[in-house]
Amino acid sequence: MTEQSPALDNLLTESRTFPPSEAFAAKANATADSYAEANEDREAFWARQAERLHWDTKWSQVLDWSDAPFAKWFVGGKLNVAYNCVDRHVEAGHGDQVAIHWVGEPGDTRDITYAELQREVSRAANGLISLGVTARDRVAIQLQMIPEAIIAMLACARIGAMHSVVFGGFSPSALRQRVDDAQAKIVITSDGQYRRGKAAPMKANVDEALAGAESVEKVLVVRRTGEDDVPWNNGRDLWWHELVEAQSDQHTPEAFDSEHPLYILYTSGTTGKPKGILHTSGGYLTQAAYTHHAVFDHKPGEDVYWCTADIGWVTGHSYIVYGPLANRVTQVVYEGTPNTPHEGRHWEIIQTYKVSLYYTAPTLIRTFMKWGADIPAKYDLSSLRVLGSVGEPINPEAWMWYREHIGGNRCPIVDTWWQTETGSIMISPLPGVTHTKPGSAQRPLPGISAKVVDDAGNEVGKGGGGYLVLDKPWPGMLRGIWGDDERYRETYWSRFSEQGYYFAGDGAKYDADGDVWLLGRVDDVMNVSGHRISTTEVESALVSHPTVAEAAVVGATDPTTGQGIVAFVILRGDVAEDQARGDAAIQELRNHVSKEIGPIAKPRQIMVVPELPKTRSGKIMRRLLRDVAENREIGDVTTLADSSVMDLISSGLKSGS
Ligand code: WT7
Repeated sequence: MTEQSPALDNLLTESRTFPPSEAFAAKANATADSYAEANEDREAFWARQAERLHWDTKWSQVLDWSDAPFAKWFVGGKLNVAYNCVDRHVEAGHGDQVAIHWVGEPGDTRDITYAELQREVSRAANGLISLGVTARDRVAIQLQMIPEAIIAMLACARIGAMHSVVFGGFSPSALRQRVDDAQAKIVITSDGQYRRGKAAPMKANVDEALAGAESVEKVLVVRRTGEDDVPWNNGRDLWWHELVEAQSDQHTPEAFDSEHPLYILYTSGTTGKPKGILHTSGGYLTQAAYTHHAVFDHKPGEDVYWCTADIGWVTGHSYIVYGPLANRVTQVVYEGTPNTPHEGRHWEIIQTYKVSLYYTAPTLIRTFMKWGADIPAKYDLSSLRVLGSVGEPINPEAWMWYREHIGGNRCPIVDTWWQTETGSIMISPLPGVTHTKPGSAQRPLPGISAKVVDDAGNEVGKGGGGYLVLDKPWPGMLRGIWGDDERYRETYWSRFSEQGYYFAGDGAKYDADGDVWLLGRVDDVMNVSGHRISTTEVESALVSHPTVAEAAVVGATDPTTGQGIVAFVILRGDVAEDQARGDAAIQELRNHVSKEIGPIAKPRQIMVVPELPKTRSGKIMRRLLRDVAENREIGDVTTLADSSVMDLISSGLKSGS
């Protein structure tokens, strides 16, 4: 397997464990028995979990895997996902319960009850219908964290249209690529967004993205910042409030097939073209709801939950919208950045709303560590019961800091491993059951099967390392890549085709107890602040700049963001090196990448080099570049076509810096 990053080495010597408190365990949603129960009959276990939902027609078969790797779950069943997330709670007498405590970055707030949410979603659904949106149509959504984002997603689900949410930080060309791939008919965005205390335009970027986009019929614009001169395309653009407020707040949801497509969400793969991950309805909602219930120990009507993700990522889909709302959550949704207007913003929100379940990412925890423990210490965090982590391996120091300074040494930490493709959490401790270990996701959840295997696909023993695979289908699994069945088979099912395993792309290891430790990606995918970015994507962006002849990109260990993007570029012959090495030129290249893909893909560092290390077959040896980027001694160079290249690179960097 590929070498592992040094920051992760210490994970493997970690030996502390934290048993659950008796008081917590006595009331926990999860029980130790559920592992055995699920093992006995996996399909019966998932059928019991599907009973959490309202089905208009019950399924006749739990799983149809006859067309593997294309799964069908709860075959013949019919349900409406939005009805399950909203209406049924109102019908059960919880219309007055707050669904969303929304907190705007400038300090404005809005509490939305389930009854209001039902009316808003119904109006929005009627609005979409009035524009001619029908089942299976694609609606692209590029919105910041405002209630309309959630309402728009649920309105699509309600009428069987598929949403494709595009992260607000993505560039116009990234948005365009996604709109074209999905052939989106409608795009929903806002006039602008508040970010770090300032209003920044959104609509202008969307206009740039959509110039000449033929599939797009209408653009709906939510008014948020109230900019005066929002660019407007008459005939195409409509204000959300004008459309939606004119609609009836009554809408009868239709039941759709369990396998009806729910959404597409694009994620980076090892090539430049993002993959449209396809999720469907019944199985997805079942696993999202079950895992939210068991992993966060969520008690409806008692807990206040807060997942700090953005709806532009899968965490926002499964753990802000679908799982929590299906479970009748009361949750905080926060619009802005964690240090606006001050570095205690999250703790202040937790104190104000008495948040009990908090789900965030290691990169943010490490940022909080940097800001200092004295900041959370100023707030009352005693309402917290469970702390979650997702997005990348959490290092033991960050885990311990989270436990002590946020969780008061009392809250179980759930380190949840999963992917856009898995739809829901797959590997995680269960609070109240698991004796947690700092840095380990530990065990596949009940009903889920995962293994660590060697190159040949054989499971490794305790203490052994290799590749993480999922060896049994699961309800929330992706149903394919939008419009590209072949790429779906190739990407996930070809590596261990003989065994029929899903290859996750992560390295992993068993410890002496058989618990799983995730070790990061083994492919050319970087993980920056929990966001997946492919090296090829950044390389293509770099070579699209007129001064760059060739580029190689690696993810180098970064103390805050997990990995940072480090690029090595060869300049075109006619570009004077001393000029292009200048700060301004490097800055220009960094900005170019940011403009092409989005600010999250901006390289931390760019080094101008005379050559790149390649094998005889022309493949770039990123391993050696990572050694340079991480200031390590350079590893084995014997497979290089020209073994002197690394000397050239190192000496060039020394003299050039
Ligand atoms: C990749 C998936 C799942 C939502 C956020 C990211 C890494 C995710 C963990 C974790 C170690 C993790 C993996 C995975 N990852 N959670 N708890 N421990 N690694 O979703 O963008 O689809 O990325 O994130 O490398 O393959 P994604």
